[in-house]
Amino acid sequence: MDILKETAVFKEETIALRRQLHKNPELSGKEFATTELIVKELEKLGISYVRPTETGVIAIIKGEENGKVLGLRADMDALPVEEETGLEFSSVNNGVMHACGHDAHTASLMQAVKILNLHKDEIKGTVKFIFQPSEEFLPSGAEKMVESGELNDCSAIVGIHVKSDMPVGKISVEAGPRMAASAGVDIKVKGKSGHGGTPSTAVDATVAAAAIVMNLQTIISRELSLDNMAVLSIGTLNSGTARNVISGEAVLEGTCRYYSDEAIEHVIEAVKRVAQCTASSYRAEAEVSVVPSGCGAVINDAQLSAMGAKTAEKAFGKDVLCHYPISGLNEDFSKYNAICPLLYVLIGAQNDEKFESYPLHSSKLQIDEDCMDYAAGFMAQFVIDYFN
Ligand code: NI
Repeated sequence: MDILKETAVFKEETIALRRQLHKNPELSGKEFATTELIVKELEKLGISYVRPTETGVIAIIKGEENGKVLGLRADMDALPVEEETGLEFSSVNNGVMHACGHDAHTASLMQAVKILNLHKDEIKGTVKFIFQPSEEFLPSGAEKMVESGELNDCSAIVGIHVKSDMPVGKISVEAGPRMAASAGVDIKVKGKSGHGGTPSTAVDATVAAAAIVMNLQTIISRELSLDNMAVLSIGTLNSGTARNVISGEAVLEGTCRYYSDEAIEHVIEAVKRVAQCTASSYRAEAEVSVVPSGCGAVINDAQLSAMGAKTAEKAFGKDVLCHYPISGLNEDFSKYNAICPLLYVLIGAQNDEKFESYPLHSSKLQIDEDCMDYAAGFMAQFVIDYFN
């Protein structure tokens, strides 16, 4: 199979589909029109499918032989962002935008369906194409897909994500940690309010909270080993009501991103210790809660990663592979790890000659649509390699 020729056949259709999705984005869990569009395409192609969740579809292509089952996953939801790209196919849904490239993921997966539908004889097993809802917000669409039981027979699942800070034509297929697990950090500092002119009669929650923010900084840098890396960020600190009133209560909210149980177990204990001891040194008190609230870490299986790297080179040549740093972002793709080993592949979508690059989730995000040839081509070639 010459993958570049294969992707070229469906290139225009794929771009048209992506633009249609981009123009009509839908929020997490509300991907009704998107799902209908995918279903219609599948029916046109005569491909069987199941609908295990309210929105979302799993298309199924059975090869010539009974064998293993491989899953390919694309997420389909958009974000509550007002688009500012000025593109002619900009979102017509106010305040909703495909600002994370999930439109490209969905269109690429459909492109892979079309390619593989012509190569059933090379599939010695079954491919399940997972068009997944609700990646951006909980409840997780991946979790619902897992709970449906429709993917229980998968022996591996491959996910893709476009990257706006990685040049188009590059692919990252790397073993080990890729996307972080996340926990919410909540701290309430209780002091005693009083007059700003007589602080000695009060216990200042603002001062205690400020000290807590500073002292938390050494948990990551002094208490965690390199094996158990993590980040800890305090995003909000709210305290006080007026310039001349000593605040009696301060509330801090933050997030921890991590890759191992050891790391989060240590952070839970340490945040509690540092916040409470710091508060008490200022005669205040701290209530602390650190709860793993997001999804687990995405850890790429070593064997699948090695296989994926070979696939990428075979499909696109020696120069295609590149390194992309371990991320502090959270992805619900990790939920599929409850079923089987995973491979999460990053696809370059940046092109400085065509447009200015903005980060994912930006209202100005643009992608080079050629990235879909790489996404679809990789998935299709990986399927063939996996079964042969
Ligand atoms: Ni995303």
